[in-house]
Amino acid sequence: MVLYAIQTNAISKNFDRVTAVKNVTISIKPGELFGLLGPNGAGKTTLINMLSTLMPPSSGGARVWDFDVVKDASFVRQSIGVVFQDSTLDYRLSGRENLDLQGRLYGLDSRFRKKRIEEVLTLVELTDRADSVVRTYSGGMLRRLEIARGFIHKPHVLFLDEPTLGLDPQTRTHIWEYIKTLTEEEGVTIVLTTHYMEEADHLCSRIAIIDHGEIVALDAPDALKNEVGGEVITLELEDSADIAGLCSVYKKNGYAKTVSLKKNELSIPVNDGERQIPHVLRLASSTGASIGSVSLHKPTLNDVFLHHTGRAIRDTEASETEHVRSRVQSKMRQQ
Ligand SMILES: Nc1ncnc2c1ncn2[C@@H]1O[C@H](COP(=O)(O)OP(=O)(O)OP(=O)(O)O)[C@@H](O)[C@H]1O
Ligand SMILES: [Mg+2]
Repeated sequence: MVLYAIQTNAISKNFDRVTAVKNVTISIKPGELFGLLGPNGAGKTTLINMLSTLMPPSSGGARVWDFDVVKDASFVRQSIGVVFQDSTLDYRLSGRENLDLQGRLYGLDSRFRKKRIEEVLTLVELTDRADSVVRTYSGGMLRRLEIARGFIHKPHVLFLDEPTLGLDPQTRTHIWEYIKTLTEEEGVTIVLTTHYMEEADHLCSRIAIIDHGEIVALDAPDALKNEVGGEVITLELEDSADIAGLCSVYKKNGYAKTVSLKKNELSIPVNDGERQIPHVLRLASSTGASIGSVSLHKPTLNDVFLHHTGRAIRDTEASETEHVRSRVQSKMRQQ
């Protein structure tokens, strides 16, 4: 057994005009379920591409299962499975045929391959539909099949790039259960990327929050949330309010981490939230801002992201989901 499943050392990737990944140094232990959480374009897929040897780093380096991603690329490939953000299934074949094809690509002998196909089908509960053509699968079934295919060869490390993107919430929670089972029953180390905060929160033992190619925070979900503070007050103001002015009033009065969420919403991390609300409201009134609603909640990973970047992840989420859904649909129509 290796000490670290993955170790990166100031790994970076530059494209023509952008630095997609900037000096990322992380260590992931065997058996961890590690999350890379960040908005669109944060560099999640680029990092996964480098770790899975699809793309060389511009500088820095990484070891996966103690193999160098550049010098020992073929050993790295034998140690990993990858489920890509975009579907790579063959929609004209059945589920079982897709798995068989992958098993052959990895050179699994026929007896082991057959046994293993049944095992992975059982794990993702697709045995009943294994002989149906993939074109007839629902979105959730497609993702389950892709995940099954990703670990058919019993990899040490499995990379899942946005495993539940575009799926409805119920299907998403199902997929979460399969992912958990994988770490528990197969002991596989999983690195998943997501921009769903609930997903990272629910599944991952540790999370690296990535923004503009850089890790801005890395810890267990609860530790990240505790760092923000006890609670968060959210104020919804009338559209006419001077949000920037109000932000600076709060900052001057000791609410240093106040952030504007949208054009009429403010997030104010506090300790002892219930006692702070009257003071926060008085300050708003003193500037003439009228308040539509006030809420108090425990910090979420969205608050953590706000705390570190001054922006919300959620802003990009809805449009991205729609974008991917239409991309998958058009791909299916082409086949
Ligand atoms: N092959 C490429 N050539 C040029 N720029 C690229 C290339 N691949 C990625 N980028 C850029 O690098 C940045 C990071 O992209 P990446 O796909 O890694 O982000 P991501 O976090 O996976 O985003 P998403 O949530 O949309 O999947 C983006 O600005 C993107 O436009
Ligand atoms: Mg991506």
